Amino acid sequence: MKNILVTGGAGFIGSNYINFMLSNRDEYFIVNLDKLTYAGNLENLKPSEDNKNYQFINGDIVNSELLDFIFQKYKIKYVINFAAESHVDRSILGSQIFYQTNVIGTNVLLETARKYDVEKFLQVSTDEVYGSLGKEGLFTESTPLSPNSPYSSSKAAADMMVLAFHHTFGMPVVVTRCSNNYGPLQFPEKLIPLMIINSLNNKKLPVYGDGLNVRDWIYVIDHNKAIDLVLEKGTPGNVYNIGASNEMPNIEIVKLILQHLKKPEELIQHVIDRPGHDRRYAIDSSKIKKELGWLPEYSFEEAIIQTIDWYAKNKSWWERIITGEYQKYYQTQYKNF
Ligand code: NAD
Ligand code: TYD
Repeated sequence: MKNILVTGGAGFIGSNYINFMLSNRDEYFIVNLDKLTYAGNLENLKPSEDNKNYQFINGDIVNSELLDFIFQKYKIKYVINFAAESHVDRSILGSQIFYQTNVIGTNVLLETARKYDVEKFLQVSTDEVYGSLGKEGLFTESTPLSPNSPYSSSKAAADMMVLAFHHTFGMPVVVTRCSNNYGPLQFPEKLIPLMIINSLNNKKLPVYGDGLNVRDWIYVIDHNKAIDLVLEKGTPGNVYNIGASNEMPNIEIVKLILQHLKKPEELIQHVIDRPGHDRRYAIDSSKIKKELGWLPEYSFEEAIIQTIDWYAKNKSWWERIITGEYQKYYQTQYKNF
């Protein structure tokens, strides 16, 4: 058995990872440590909850006693650190928890993993650590880190820490830096689910600035397969970019969603821009392709339609989310929009 500690497994990417791997890998035993913040949702893990190779633990990655208990009891040999505060807009509203979880939390987890001699520690990072691109060029693994938001700066700090533990202690760490993900189970604060849900509810769609900021989109399962490959075959001390070469201006995605749901473009409303808004992200993933043989399998054209249809069919999933805390956040972020 491969005993893996997955942190943040009740969030969007982590829950997709666990559900996918437990139905495809008999040799994985997965312990999911998640603090169940606003973004954590145990409903996401319904397909896995009765699996004998799955254990959920409600807790915080900054809790070193709890981590000691988990590493000992479950003989953890692999760690995938998905746990994070992950939303740029929230990091602008209040940054402290971002450094607490994404930096201090990663440090506590890393120190514990070192103490128990893990075979691989995989830090799930983001292309946002590289900063913003102009019209041309792509982020490669050697692009200097130049993060612009509190969120991306906390992720960059964690990346450097993890790589320093390889340099100093020889720890078998790997870092993955992926572009923007989309797919089922994404919390509706992020662009794609927010625009789908507002469209379904005939609510206005708040597009920041001119809507021409570019993101490079990848389907969540393609990201998770890459993570799995890097966990198994990635060279310790290395960074791997992950992306599907699918750049799109935000406004085009919003229009595509409206078109598919047969809603009018009048729902679009340009709102004041995000402070410090990165203009363009685009990732060069030739290293993981060449060295590990990874290739994205999902075409954007098909997977985005499947994703929109998933939200249309799974209203009860998001209706339970867009109450309470979400309404408060929405009010603060979008005012009386
Ligand atoms: P998410 O916000 O949907 O989920 C984060 C999960 O972490 C939640 O379940 C939350 O409860 C948990 N968590 C938060 N703080 C915790 C703590 N202190 N201890 C334990 N659990 C805690 O995020 P996501 O979109 O699934 O992203 C997962 C990871 O992937 C993050 O590290 C993020 O930086 C990275 N990433 C995300 C994207 C993207 O497009 N969403 C792209 C590249 C990288
Ligand atoms: P987001 O999903 O928050 O991801 P990130 O900022 O980490 O790339 O945003 C994706 C893009 O969509 C980004 O350029 C900001 C823009 N955006 C809007 O225009 N309106 C919105 O309401 C949101 C949430 C994002």
